[in-house]
Amino acid sequence: MATLALASWATNLTYANLTGAVVDAAVKSVYNWAGCAIGGYAQDAPQIAQNTTQIFFGGPPTSSILGSNGSISESFADAQTAAFVNGIAGHVDDYDDTHLATIIHPAGHVASALLAVSEWQGSVSGQDFLTAFVAGVEAECKLGLSVYPEHYDVGWHITSTTGSIGTAVAVGKLLGLDTTGMQHAIGVAATQVVGMQEFFGSMTKSFHVGRAAQSGMLAALLAQNGFTSSLQGLEAQFGWLHVVSTRENASAYFDQLGEIWEIEQNTFKPFPCGIVMHPTIDACIQLHNETLENGKSISSIQTVNLRVNPEVPVLTGKTDPQTGLEGKFSIYHAAAIGLLFGEATPTEFTDDAVKNDTVISMRNKVNVTTDTSVSEDQADVSITFDDGSTLEKRIEHAIGSLENPMTDAELQKKFIDQVSRVIGEQRAEKAYDAFINIGNMTDVGKLRMLF
Ligand SMILES: *[C@@H]1O[C@H](CO)[C@@H](O)[C@H](O)[C@H]1NC(C)=O
Ligand SMILES: *[C@@H]1O[C@H](CO)[C@@H](O)[C@H](O)[C@H]1NC(C)=O
Ligand SMILES: *[C@@H]1O[C@H](CO)[C@@H](O)[C@H](O)[C@H]1NC(C)=O
Ligand SMILES: *[C@@H]1O[C@H](CO)[C@@H](O)[C@H](O)[C@H]1NC(C)=O
Ligand SMILES: *[C@@H]1O[C@H](CO)[C@@H](O)[C@H](O)[C@H]1NC(C)=O
Ligand SMILES: *[C@@H]1O[C@H](CO)[C@@H](O)[C@H](O)[C@H]1NC(C)=O
Ligand SMILES: *[C@@H]1O[C@H](CO)[C@@H](O)[C@H](O)[C@H]1NC(C)=O
Ligand SMILES: *[C@@H]1O[C@H](CO)[C@@H](O)[C@H](O)[C@H]1NC(C)=O
Repeated sequence: MATLALASWATNLTYANLTGAVVDAAVKSVYNWAGCAIGGYAQDAPQIAQNTTQIFFGGPPTSSILGSNGSISESFADAQTAAFVNGIAGHVDDYDDTHLATIIHPAGHVASALLAVSEWQGSVSGQDFLTAFVAGVEAECKLGLSVYPEHYDVGWHITSTTGSIGTAVAVGKLLGLDTTGMQHAIGVAATQVVGMQEFFGSMTKSFHVGRAAQSGMLAALLAQNGFTSSLQGLEAQFGWLHVVSTRENASAYFDQLGEIWEIEQNTFKPFPCGIVMHPTIDACIQLHNETLENGKSISSIQTVNLRVNPEVPVLTGKTDPQTGLEGKFSIYHAAAIGLLFGEATPTEFTDDAVKNDTVISMRNKVNVTTDTSVSEDQADVSITFDDGSTLEKRIEHAIGSLENPMTDAELQKKFIDQVSRVIGEQRAEKAYDAFINIGNMTDVGKLRMLF
């Protein structure tokens, strides 16, 4: 009954059901995504995707490409293209959000599709937008919990495999599908499973999120027009849960829909790269400062020893990255740039940065040891200088984790920093104001006109 349970919960959800904390988490998740979708548009991946599709397959330009800095008329595409391009742009920097219990990056596909549909159809209030967004995020995260970690461990990119379904629930909610229509939408989305971990460090990782946005949107639109599917797309013998996981327990988690809100567990990334590297970067940035405070030079560092969780080299073990995107999955690169520059922003994950001789030389000094007693949130970093002295740093909870979350001021700084690079500082400030007030808008489709 998993599909019915999810569909019935989502169709019955109202804005009044959302607590203040849920609304707050939803607004943060949406504006953090918007910042990433604008900032990430500077990468080639979303632009190649747009150039490849819009001219040949595009329909009427109803929906915004958020990072476009051209005139208003140049900045719109059909809803499917907009959802695809904004989905890719929002994930390509690996700077988005993380539901740590499942490592799902929940916002990108859901928000990309919802915004595109809101702009296209018109008259969607901020409250309806946030209600649909929360429905989608809860759906995908509960589904993730019911198959994690087995589903992830065989190599699925859980963000997008659950993401098409979360997006279908969100768009279906926005379109006002009834419970049966929602079950069909879930079915059409469930059969479009997309995303494997082989593609981490390439443009295809972000393709997963763009495609999940499109797939989920299409599923909801098809269902709205009477397209049929299975009513048990999740739980049937040959449905999503059994086929993509060796363990599933959807009913255990779907029972908690609306009681335990997964969106309150969403976290935001301070660094644009694979999240398992964040504790190491946090430590290395602090060691950068301490090195200078002790009157030593960074160039006198001889060895860098990391003690990290065993997942770290599995997911981010690239020793010799060749592109900025590969650098986002190299623990060696992460440690090197943290120590060298004392920061980890999009600038430190460009093609130039990974090919820089100073960076390569520091990368080659990094020695990684794994330890099952080190959690994914922790890291021990020890550096040795040429005079034999050492400095050590232990991170218990990396910045950006649930125990050590980014503050509102840090989230604002992150937004302005990445958005200014692409559309300039004036528009960045306006975009920030527009997105943090999304909940009070009477027509979310007008949002792009505010910046
Ligand atoms: C929303 O709140 C109403 C009133 O408290 C409650 O009856 C209903 O079950 C809630 N719906 C959901 C989907 O949580
Ligand atoms: C996409 O097309 C635009 C307009 O023709 C062009 O300026 C841009 O360089 C292209 N981008 C990529 C990454 O191909
Ligand atoms: C599913 O979860 C429920 C609640 O935690 C538990 O009682 C049940 O044993 C679980 N079933 C399976 C098959 O793991
Ligand atoms: C490192 O030092 C810089 C410059 O003084 C400061 O802005 C930054 O907050 C410090 N970072 C940490 C992690 O201590
Ligand atoms: C490499 O980075 C260092 C430190 O920022 C910089 O001084 C140097 O010019 C860079 N080298 C190249 C080839 O870009
Ligand atoms: C790398 O780490 C291992 C395990 O801690 C240690 O035995 C070895 O000496 C280290 N290598 C260097 C070059 O520091
Ligand atoms: C954005 O477009 C404006 C107007 O054409 C231009 O002045 C500005 O330099 C552009 N910003 C960036 C970051 O490219
Ligand atoms: C709407 O505006 C009011 C008053 O400014 C504010 O307190 C509230 O948080 C806003 N709601 C949302 C969801 O943004």
